[in-house]
Amino acid sequence: MASSIKKVAILGAGGNIGKHVLAALVKQSFDVTVVSRPTSTSTFPSHIHVVKTEYTPSELEKAFVGQDAVVSLVSGDGFADQVKIVDAAIAAGVKRFIPSDFGSDTTNPKAVEAVPIFHHKRQVVQYLESKEDQISWTAIVTGFFIDFCLAYKLIPIDAGNKTAVISDGGDVPFSGTTSENVGLATARVLEKESETKNKYVFVSSLTTTLNELVAVYEKTTGSKFSVTHESTEEVTKTNLQKLQQGDFSAIGPLILASAFRKEAWGDLRTLGSESWNERLGLPAVDVEDVVKAVVSAK
Ligand SMILES: NC(=O)c1ccc[n+]([C@@H]2O[C@H](COP(=O)([O-])OP(=O)(O)OC[C@H]3O[C@@H](n4cnc5c(N)ncnc54)[C@H](OP(=O)(O)O)[C@@H]3O)[C@@H](O)[C@H]2O)c1
Repeated sequence: MASSIKKVAILGAGGNIGKHVLAALVKQSFDVTVVSRPTSTSTFPSHIHVVKTEYTPSELEKAFVGQDAVVSLVSGDGFADQVKIVDAAIAAGVKRFIPSDFGSDTTNPKAVEAVPIFHHKRQVVQYLESKEDQISWTAIVTGFFIDFCLAYKLIPIDAGNKTAVISDGGDVPFSGTTSENVGLATARVLEKESETKNKYVFVSSLTTTLNELVAVYEKTTGSKFSVTHESTEEVTKTNLQKLQQGDFSAIGPLILASAFRKEAWGDLRTLGSESWNERLGLPAVDVEDVVKAVVSAK
């Protein structure tokens, strides 16, 4: 069935993943408007329609009038603003809201407990669930943005120093999606308006393990990597304490530990979650190609 979604407003479009989602929406011929804060330092290609607006209910509503969908890719303090953004979308008559989920499986209550920041993501979807008579929603779960997380060493493998930190033995599978496929998945969700209505959509480009990644780095660089080991239980304990003391640098390690632990919460195949890869026409990606691109970009 053809989608009635043509006009899409996107928030956070200049961010790490926002730029890929923006590019995909434009490529898939949506009529895109970027909504960005007046204080934003983000820049956008000149052909993109940008509306600068304060994040107040009335200004957001004004920005959303006439839009069929709102895609939120905000981060940081912006998470807390999302309920306000949803309300403005409802007031403007928007049909579909995609919240800033885009990562770990936030439907897993144990993961939400282990990584307190996931509460914000889950709460927004719960709010959307309570408003289904006024707006529809789709939350997209992607696992790691695999190219981004490797390039920025958020997954702790360092091609320059030839080092890696391995959690819980390193054989636990986890899922990842390339930034390009995150963008494509978002566009395809909007193209499949009725099938993706009021649902979590799980996508991934690949499943790998830390040990496999290190082996691929070693093969790609022709060097042996020096590996140190840590336990996700210890990392979780230490970083929950740090977070309680207001140290937000704990969030990254908590997210990694939740994905790498032996229960494999980061493996989107094993959580009873239906994969949407085929239905959205998302190509599988070879882990070697991702690592080669990361290493050659250095
Ligand atoms: N799965 C993964 O591996 C992974 C990795 C990174 C991020 N993520 C997820 O992807 C989503 C986007 O993250 P990101 O890293 O792309 O974000 P980001 O680059 O840090 O920021 C995205 C945008 O959020 C807006 N923003 C920042 N602070 C804000 C505030 N206080 N209020 C309102 N808006 C604010 C800004 O837009 P303007 O300046 O245009 O207003 C900014 O460009 C998040 O849900 C994040 O958790 C997932």
